[in-house]
Amino acid sequence: MKIIETVREMQSVADAMRSAGHTIALVPTMGYLHEAHLELMRVGKRHANKLIISIFVNPTQFGPSEDYERYPRDPEGDLEKARSVGVDIVFMPPVEEMYPEGFQTTVKVEKLTQHLCGLSRPGHFDGVTTVVCKLFNITKPHIAIFGQKDYQQLAVISRMVMDLNMDIQIIGVPTVREADGLAMSSRNAYLTQEQRPSALSLKKSLELADEMLRKGETDAKAIVRAVEALIKEHPFTEIDYVSICDPVTLEDMDRIDQEALLALAVKVGHTRLIDNQILKRK
Ligand code: PAF
Repeated sequence: MKIIETVREMQSVADAMRSAGHTIALVPTMGYLHEAHLELMRVGKRHANKLIISIFVNPTQFGPSEDYERYPRDPEGDLEKARSVGVDIVFMPPVEEMYPEGFQTTVKVEKLTQHLCGLSRPGHFDGVTTVVCKLFNITKPHIAIFGQKDYQQLAVISRMVMDLNMDIQIIGVPTVREADGLAMSSRNAYLTQEQRPSALSLKKSLELADEMLRKGETDAKAIVRAVEALIKEHPFTEIDYVSICDPVTLEDMDRIDQEALLALAVKVGHTRLIDNQILKRK
Protein backbone atom coordinates (compact mmCIF):
# COMPACT_ATOMS: atom_id res chain seq x y z
CA MET A 1 0.00 0.00 0.00
CA LYS A 2 1.40 3.33 -1.11
CA ILE A 3 0.92 6.53 0.89
CA ILE A 4 0.90 9.75 -1.10
CA GLU A 5 0.84 13.25 0.38
CA THR A 6 1.21 15.54 -2.63
CA VAL A 7 -1.26 16.43 -5.36
CA ARG A 8 1.37 16.22 -8.08
CA GLU A 9 2.44 12.65 -7.19
CA MET A 10 -1.16 11.49 -6.77
CA GLN A 11 -2.11 12.84 -10.18
CA SER A 12 0.82 11.22 -11.94
CA VAL A 13 0.20 7.85 -10.24
CA ALA A 14 -3.49 8.07 -11.21
CA ASP A 15 -2.53 8.92 -14.80
CA ALA A 16 -0.19 5.92 -14.92
CA MET A 17 -2.92 3.63 -13.59
CA ARG A 18 -5.36 4.86 -16.20
CA SER A 19 -2.79 4.49 -19.00
CA ALA A 20 -2.16 0.92 -17.87
CA GLY A 21 -5.89 0.25 -18.34
CA HIS A 22 -6.85 0.04 -14.67
CA THR A 23 -10.19 1.19 -13.31
CA ILE A 24 -9.91 3.36 -10.21
CA ALA A 25 -12.36 3.50 -7.32
CA LEU A 26 -12.10 6.30 -4.78
CA VAL A 27 -13.42 6.27 -1.22
CA PRO A 28 -13.08 9.78 0.20
CA THR A 29 -12.91 9.84 4.02
CA MET A 30 -11.98 12.10 6.88
CA GLY A 31 -10.22 9.23 8.61
CA TYR A 32 -10.84 7.69 12.04
CA LEU A 33 -11.91 4.72 9.97
CA HIS A 34 -14.52 2.28 11.17
CA GLU A 35 -16.39 -0.69 9.77
CA ALA A 36 -18.70 1.49 7.62
CA HIS A 37 -15.68 3.00 5.85
CA LEU A 38 -14.23 -0.47 5.34
CA GLU A 39 -17.52 -1.55 3.77
CA LEU A 40 -17.26 1.36 1.29
CA MET A 41 -13.74 0.16 0.48
CA ARG A 42 -14.89 -3.44 -0.07
CA VAL A 43 -17.55 -2.17 -2.45
CA GLY A 44 -14.86 -0.11 -4.19
CA LYS A 45 -12.71 -3.20 -4.63
CA ARG A 46 -15.60 -5.07 -6.22
CA HIS A 47 -16.11 -2.29 -8.79
CA ALA A 48 -12.54 -1.49 -9.79
CA ASN A 49 -9.11 -3.06 -9.79
CA LYS A 50 -7.35 -0.14 -8.08
CA LEU A 51 -8.65 1.30 -4.84
CA ILE A 52 -7.63 4.74 -3.64
CA ILE A 53 -8.84 6.18 -0.37
CA SER A 54 -8.33 9.74 0.77
CA ILE A 55 -7.91 10.69 4.40
CA PHE A 56 -8.34 14.41 4.87
CA VAL A 57 -10.19 16.28 7.61
CA ASN A 58 -11.49 19.05 5.41
CA PRO A 59 -11.52 22.38 7.29
CA THR A 60 -13.84 24.12 4.81
CA GLN A 61 -16.81 21.92 5.62
CA PHE A 62 -16.78 22.76 9.34
CA GLY A 63 -18.52 25.87 10.68
CA PRO A 64 -16.60 28.19 13.04
CA SER A 65 -18.25 26.69 16.14
CA GLU A 66 -18.01 23.08 14.94
CA ASP A 67 -15.60 20.29 15.85
CA TYR A 68 -12.80 20.66 13.26
CA GLU A 69 -10.06 20.89 15.90
CA ARG A 70 -11.29 18.02 18.03
CA TYR A 71 -12.48 15.80 15.16
CA PRO A 72 -11.05 12.35 16.05
CA ARG A 73 -7.85 11.45 14.22
CA ASP A 74 -5.86 8.19 14.20
CA PRO A 75 -3.57 8.07 11.14
CA GLU A 76 -1.65 4.98 12.26
CA GLY A 77 -4.80 2.99 13.03
CA ASP A 78 -6.33 4.16 9.75
CA LEU A 79 -3.38 2.89 7.70
CA GLU A 80 -3.56 -0.49 9.40
CA LYS A 81 -7.28 -0.77 8.65
CA ALA A 82 -6.81 0.36 5.05
CA ARG A 83 -4.10 -2.29 4.62
CA SER A 84 -6.42 -4.97 6.02
CA VAL A 85 -8.94 -4.44 3.20
CA GLY A 86 -6.37 -4.23 0.42
CA VAL A 87 -6.34 -0.50 -0.34
CA ASP A 88 -3.75 0.29 -3.06
CA ILE A 89 -3.18 3.96 -2.34
CA VAL A 90 -3.90 6.24 0.58
CA PHE A 91 -3.91 9.90 -0.38
CA MET A 92 -3.40 11.92 2.82
CA PRO A 93 -2.42 15.48 2.02
CA PRO A 94 -1.68 18.17 4.57
CA VAL A 95 -4.11 21.11 4.63
CA GLU A 96 -1.68 23.47 2.79
CA GLU A 97 -1.48 20.99 -0.07
CA MET A 98 -5.24 21.13 -0.61
CA TYR A 99 -5.71 24.81 0.19
CA PRO A 100 -2.51 26.65 -0.69
CA GLU A 101 -2.29 30.37 -0.21
CA GLY A 102 -4.50 32.24 -2.67
CA PHE A 103 -7.10 29.47 -2.91
CA GLN A 104 -10.47 31.08 -3.74
CA THR A 105 -12.74 28.72 -5.66
CA THR A 106 -15.97 27.16 -4.41
CA VAL A 107 -18.16 24.51 -6.02
CA LYS A 108 -21.76 25.11 -4.99
CA VAL A 109 -24.87 23.00 -5.57
CA GLU A 110 -27.74 25.46 -5.16
CA LYS A 111 -31.09 23.94 -4.28
CA LEU A 112 -30.37 20.59 -2.69
CA THR A 113 -28.19 22.29 -0.10
CA GLN A 114 -31.04 24.51 1.08
CA HIS A 115 -32.71 21.73 3.07
CA LEU A 116 -31.93 19.50 6.06
CA CYS A 117 -28.30 19.82 7.19
CA GLY A 118 -27.74 22.70 4.78
CA LEU A 119 -30.01 24.88 6.92
CA SER A 120 -28.26 24.27 10.22
CA ARG A 121 -24.74 24.02 8.77
CA PRO A 122 -24.45 26.97 6.39
CA GLY A 123 -21.55 26.55 3.98
CA HIS A 124 -21.02 22.91 4.94
CA PHE A 125 -21.97 21.45 1.58
CA ASP A 126 -19.95 24.06 -0.31
CA GLY A 127 -16.94 22.75 1.61
CA VAL A 128 -17.90 19.17 0.79
CA THR A 129 -18.48 19.69 -2.94
CA THR A 130 -15.35 21.78 -3.29
CA VAL A 131 -13.11 19.22 -1.63
CA VAL A 132 -14.75 16.26 -3.36
CA CYS A 133 -14.38 17.97 -6.74
CA LYS A 134 -10.70 18.55 -5.94
CA LEU A 135 -10.27 14.92 -4.82
CA PHE A 136 -11.85 13.76 -8.08
CA ASN A 137 -9.44 15.92 -10.10
CA ILE A 138 -6.49 14.68 -8.06
CA THR A 139 -7.22 10.94 -7.89
CA LYS A 140 -9.01 10.68 -11.26
CA PRO A 141 -11.41 7.86 -10.31
CA HIS A 142 -13.86 6.08 -12.58
CA ILE A 143 -16.05 5.28 -9.57
CA ALA A 144 -16.51 6.97 -6.20
CA ILE A 145 -18.26 5.47 -3.21
CA PHE A 146 -20.21 7.23 -0.46
CA GLY A 147 -22.38 6.07 2.45
CA GLN A 148 -26.15 6.51 2.40
CA LYS A 149 -26.04 7.58 6.05
CA ASP A 150 -25.02 10.98 4.69
CA TYR A 151 -28.00 10.93 2.35
CA GLN A 152 -27.97 14.63 1.52
CA GLN A 153 -24.22 14.56 0.89
CA LEU A 154 -24.70 11.68 -1.55
CA ALA A 155 -27.54 13.56 -3.30
CA VAL A 156 -25.53 16.78 -3.52
CA ILE A 157 -22.42 15.03 -4.87
CA SER A 158 -24.49 13.07 -7.40
CA ARG A 159 -26.04 16.37 -8.56
CA MET A 160 -22.61 18.01 -8.85
CA VAL A 161 -21.31 15.10 -10.93
CA MET A 162 -24.33 15.28 -13.20
CA ASP A 163 -24.36 19.08 -13.55
CA LEU A 164 -20.63 19.36 -14.21
CA ASN A 165 -20.52 16.33 -16.54
CA MET A 166 -17.90 14.59 -14.46
CA ASP A 167 -17.26 11.17 -15.96
CA ILE A 168 -17.49 9.36 -12.62
CA GLN A 169 -19.97 6.78 -11.43
CA ILE A 170 -21.25 7.52 -7.91
CA ILE A 171 -22.24 4.53 -5.80
CA GLY A 172 -24.21 4.83 -2.55
CA VAL A 173 -23.75 2.11 0.05
CA PRO A 174 -26.44 1.29 2.67
CA THR A 175 -25.81 2.50 6.22
CA VAL A 176 -23.73 0.17 8.36
CA ARG A 177 -24.93 -0.07 11.97
CA GLU A 178 -23.50 -1.11 15.31
CA ALA A 179 -25.04 -4.26 16.85
CA ASP A 180 -27.44 -2.02 18.83
CA GLY A 181 -28.65 -0.22 15.68
CA LEU A 182 -26.66 3.02 16.00
CA ALA A 183 -25.51 4.18 12.56
CA MET A 184 -21.71 4.02 12.44
CA SER A 185 -19.98 7.39 12.50
CA SER A 186 -16.57 8.65 13.57
CA ARG A 187 -18.45 11.09 15.83
CA ASN A 188 -19.92 8.18 17.85
CA ALA A 189 -16.55 8.24 19.64
CA TYR A 190 -17.69 11.44 21.40
CA LEU A 191 -20.69 9.73 23.05
CA THR A 192 -20.43 8.91 26.75
CA GLN A 193 -21.76 5.62 28.04
CA GLU A 194 -24.79 7.32 29.57
CA GLN A 195 -25.59 9.17 26.32
CA ARG A 196 -25.53 6.05 24.19
CA PRO A 197 -29.12 4.88 24.94
CA SER A 198 -30.27 8.36 23.89
CA ALA A 199 -28.33 8.04 20.63
CA LEU A 200 -30.37 4.92 19.90
CA SER A 201 -33.51 7.06 19.81
CA LEU A 202 -32.66 7.93 16.20
CA LYS A 203 -32.87 4.34 14.98
CA LYS A 204 -35.90 3.68 17.21
CA SER A 205 -37.70 6.64 15.69
CA LEU A 206 -37.02 5.40 12.15
CA GLU A 207 -38.59 2.10 13.19
CA LEU A 208 -41.55 3.91 14.72
CA ALA A 209 -42.15 5.82 11.48
CA ASP A 210 -42.05 2.62 9.48
CA GLU A 211 -44.50 1.00 11.86
CA MET A 212 -46.91 3.97 11.67
CA LEU A 213 -46.80 3.90 7.88
CA ARG A 214 -47.38 0.16 7.90
CA LYS A 215 -50.49 0.69 10.03
CA GLY A 216 -51.83 3.16 7.47
CA GLU A 217 -50.67 6.60 8.70
CA THR A 218 -49.70 8.67 5.69
CA ASP A 219 -49.84 12.17 7.20
CA ALA A 220 -46.20 13.29 7.29
CA LYS A 221 -46.82 15.80 10.10
CA ALA A 222 -48.35 13.11 12.34
CA ILE A 223 -45.31 10.88 11.83
CA VAL A 224 -42.88 13.77 12.40
CA ARG A 225 -44.70 14.65 15.67
CA ALA A 226 -44.50 11.06 16.89
CA VAL A 227 -40.82 10.81 15.99
CA GLU A 228 -40.06 14.09 17.76
CA ALA A 229 -41.95 12.93 20.86
CA LEU A 230 -40.01 9.66 20.97
CA ILE A 231 -36.65 11.44 20.67
CA LYS A 232 -37.57 14.02 23.31
CA GLU A 233 -38.34 11.24 25.81
CA HIS A 234 -34.60 10.55 25.85
CA PRO A 235 -32.29 12.68 28.01
CA PHE A 236 -29.41 14.70 26.43
CA THR A 237 -31.27 15.00 23.09
CA GLU A 238 -31.86 18.22 21.20
CA ILE A 239 -33.56 17.92 17.81
CA ASP A 240 -32.07 19.85 14.92
CA TYR A 241 -34.60 18.57 12.39
CA VAL A 242 -36.97 15.72 11.66
CA SER A 243 -38.06 15.88 8.06
CA ILE A 244 -40.15 13.80 5.72
CA CYS A 245 -39.24 14.90 2.25
CA ASP A 246 -38.98 13.95 -1.38
CA PRO A 247 -35.93 11.68 -1.76
CA VAL A 248 -34.86 13.45 -4.97
CA THR A 249 -35.56 17.15 -4.35
CA LEU A 250 -35.43 16.98 -0.51
CA GLU A 251 -38.51 19.22 -0.42
CA ASP A 252 -40.95 18.63 2.44
CA MET A 253 -43.84 16.25 1.77
CA ASP A 254 -47.29 16.50 3.41
CA ARG A 255 -48.54 13.04 2.55
CA ILE A 256 -46.61 9.84 2.04
CA ASP A 257 -48.26 8.66 -1.15
CA GLN A 258 -44.97 7.81 -2.84
CA GLU A 259 -41.48 6.98 -1.63
CA ALA A 260 -40.35 9.49 1.00
CA LEU A 261 -37.17 10.15 2.92
CA LEU A 262 -37.29 10.44 6.69
CA ALA A 263 -34.15 12.32 7.73
CA LEU A 264 -33.09 13.20 11.26
CA ALA A 265 -30.40 15.29 12.87
CA VAL A 266 -30.25 15.21 16.65
CA LYS A 267 -27.68 16.47 19.09
CA VAL A 268 -26.96 14.03 21.90
CA GLY A 269 -24.97 16.04 24.39
CA HIS A 270 -22.50 17.88 22.17
CA THR A 271 -22.53 15.19 19.48
CA ARG A 272 -24.57 15.86 16.35
CA LEU A 273 -25.91 12.61 14.88
CA ILE A 274 -27.79 12.03 11.65
CA ASP A 275 -29.75 9.08 10.34
CA ASN A 276 -32.34 8.45 7.65
CA GLN A 277 -34.55 5.89 6.04
CA ILE A 278 -36.64 5.60 2.93
CA LEU A 279 -40.31 5.23 3.81
CA LYS A 280 -42.34 3.17 1.40
CA ARG A 281 -46.03 2.28 1.52
CA LYS A 282 -46.23 -1.48 1.27
O1 PAF B 1 -18.28 12.09 4.40
C1 PAF B 1 -17.14 12.52 4.66
O2 PAF B 1 -16.37 11.90 5.39
C2 PAF B 1 -16.72 13.85 4.06
O3 PAF B 1 -17.78 14.75 4.00
C3 PAF B 1 -16.01 13.72 2.70
C4 PAF B 1 -16.96 13.17 1.65
C5 PAF B 1 -14.81 12.82 2.83
C6 PAF B 1 -15.55 15.10 2.22
O4 PAF B 1 -14.65 15.67 3.11
